[in-house]
Amino acid sequence: MADPRPVTANSVDISQYRADFPILATKMNDKPLAFLDSGASAQKPRAVIDAMSAVVEGAYSNIHRGLYKISQKLTEDVEAVRVRVASFINDPSDKNIVFTRNTTDAINLVVFSWGKAHLTARDEIILTDMEHHANIVPWQLLQKEIGFTIKTIPVDTRGVLDLGAFERLLTQNTKFVGVVHTSNALGTINPVKKITEIAKDFYPDMKVLVDGSQSIVHGAVDVADIGCDFFTFTGHKLYGPTGIGVLYGTDEILASMPPYQGGGDMIDRVSFDGTTYREAPYRFEAGTPPIVEIIGLGAAIDYVSEIGMDNIAAHEAELLTYGTQKLNEIEGLTMHGTAPDKAGIMSFTIDGTHPSDIGMILDQCGVAVRSGHHCCMPLMEKMNVDATTRASLGLYSNKADIDQLIEGLHKVKKMFG
Ligand code: ALA
Repeated sequence: MADPRPVTANSVDISQYRADFPILATKMNDKPLAFLDSGASAQKPRAVIDAMSAVVEGAYSNIHRGLYKISQKLTEDVEAVRVRVASFINDPSDKNIVFTRNTTDAINLVVFSWGKAHLTARDEIILTDMEHHANIVPWQLLQKEIGFTIKTIPVDTRGVLDLGAFERLLTQNTKFVGVVHTSNALGTINPVKKITEIAKDFYPDMKVLVDGSQSIVHGAVDVADIGCDFFTFTGHKLYGPTGIGVLYGTDEILASMPPYQGGGDMIDRVSFDGTTYREAPYRFEAGTPPIVEIIGLGAAIDYVSEIGMDNIAAHEAELLTYGTQKLNEIEGLTMHGTAPDKAGIMSFTIDGTHPSDIGMILDQCGVAVRSGHHCCMPLMEKMNVDATTRASLGLYSNKADIDQLIEGLHKVKKMFG
């Protein structure tokens, strides 16, 4: 964990944390690196790098299997991360955290365990027009097998979900609602508590999944307050490593789900006459888990918790206002995603210039952004664009990064204007 830093009147000077990220002192194409692609994957602070190196160098072994000291100790450390993840999202029970590979893996687990066991051809599920492909394609794969109906909540031109339309989509056959908490492509923060309330008022046994890949990074998350059945997120966007994600599920729902994958460590007893399985969450964690990555996730959670998610949210909100204002001053630029409730994501197009060209010119200016459909092709279609350029903020982002982006965009305008 990082050293204690000065905290004043419930707010911190976030700029002091930038130095914790070694890569931010490097250059890209001989320019200072303005890293504005944290929505794709965030940079790692020294605390995470050191925690992972310390395990690999001096404390590594397999876990849950060794009777020797270093295995027992690392098993305890890994299980302690499960408890810290639970507390980070206000999960009422530390047994409800399943370690997965990433959000995609967590949603596939829900689809092919809960979905396969509980959905039939008669049923309907509701997603939204702004889902990431990770919360669309797995459902379509299962739909091919068993044939249920997929409906979607429409989104307006600002990137706001139409909750009236949502209520009209609900029928006696609706069994499940899946919604992204914060849109990776537009930044919209969806009212997931309200959506969960609407779903459960209509039918108390309706299951609700919230994809928290982006929301976990930009502010405090409270799954008990949301009231959802599932919540998913990934470590690498939260300043932790790749290869580790989280599925939270309520006691009741995890107990109702069969294993998703079979293998070691998820069983109670194996015989060729029949096998019995461990309780959740272990039943869903077949094989050796990503041990070092779990430790890295724990360090990342300690790191952001020490800064305070509310402080990170306040810092990013200020930068979002600054960046939005500067971008809107560029002639011919259209901002996609103007919802009143937004996180630090700015998605835009510029008349007469393809987002790929913008991305390549910005690269030459030392600015890292993502250009493309952001794994949200149905949303792009609704917004009438093929692609956008997206600048996404992290806790280390600052006004200088935005100014470098704006300077780069003026170069783009000069070349294509
Ligand atoms: N889902 C990640 C993004 O939004 C990769 O860029």
